[in-house]
Amino acid sequence: MNKKTIKIFSSIEKLAIHSADFLIKRINQDLSGKQYSIALSGGSTPKKIYQYLADNYSDKIDWQKIKIFFGDERCVPSNDVDSNYKMAYETLFTKISIIDENIFKINGETPPIEEAARYGKIIKANLPKINDIPQFDVILLGLGGDGHTTSIFPEQIEKFYSPNICEVASHPITGQKRITITGEIINNAKLIVFIVTGEEKSKIISEILVNDNEKKTFPASLVKPKNGELIWMMDSDAAQLLDSQIKETCIIL
Ligand code: 6PG
Repeated sequence: MNKKTIKIFSSIEKLAIHSADFLIKRINQDLSGKQYSIALSGGSTPKKIYQYLADNYSDKIDWQKIKIFFGDERCVPSNDVDSNYKMAYETLFTKISIIDENIFKINGETPPIEEAARYGKIIKANLPKINDIPQFDVILLGLGGDGHTTSIFPEQIEKFYSPNICEVASHPITGQKRITITGEIINNAKLIVFIVTGEEKSKIISEILVNDNEKKTFPASLVKPKNGELIWMMDSDAAQLLDSQIKETCIIL
């Protein structure tokens, strides 16, 4: 049975601290001798969380037991300002004692179709299978103002249903090629955490979290873990258009 929780924070700082503390607690609970897999979100929102993790947990967790993947990547060199890997490298990887072998980068310079196939094989080879589908322990997701998540955009929402673990997507405005994981593996995760901040996301949040059966379907609306847990973590700016009925069900921190 899947479980959905909405947590609203009075500031981005409180959200970053809580998210990092929450993730570390979950990881330590599950880390009984096993490897732990996390798929990182790209974009700018998670930066503060990665920085807080690096500043406060670099020596408080056995990073050697953690395998870090990416939910998506822009098809650019890893030193490109657009690279999700570059952002994670600078905010997190340089400050924690994780071995390179445990960081599974999407190669933004490889021809996209080839890289999508390669990365799908990497995921298959490094994760346990549940329902015959690789299972991440945690997937961190961001939310675009158009309702996209990972790099599945509304214009290509059918990619969410792809039978492939990874697909090649294109940004609807810039045309930038992306590699993205798809819905079947997202919804097979043990824990999915959306992290959303800022007033500019308040409208899409209210469209997705209110009457999600009646409203227009967005890629992010399709994220419904089969057996896992879904947690929406947002700041009060992003939550400002949520109606009182929904807000009554939220945890306010
Ligand atoms: C990406 C992300 C994408 C992102 C949203 C929100 O590669 O861009 O995976 O899904 O999370 O676009 O981005 P911001 O956090 O920058 O608003």
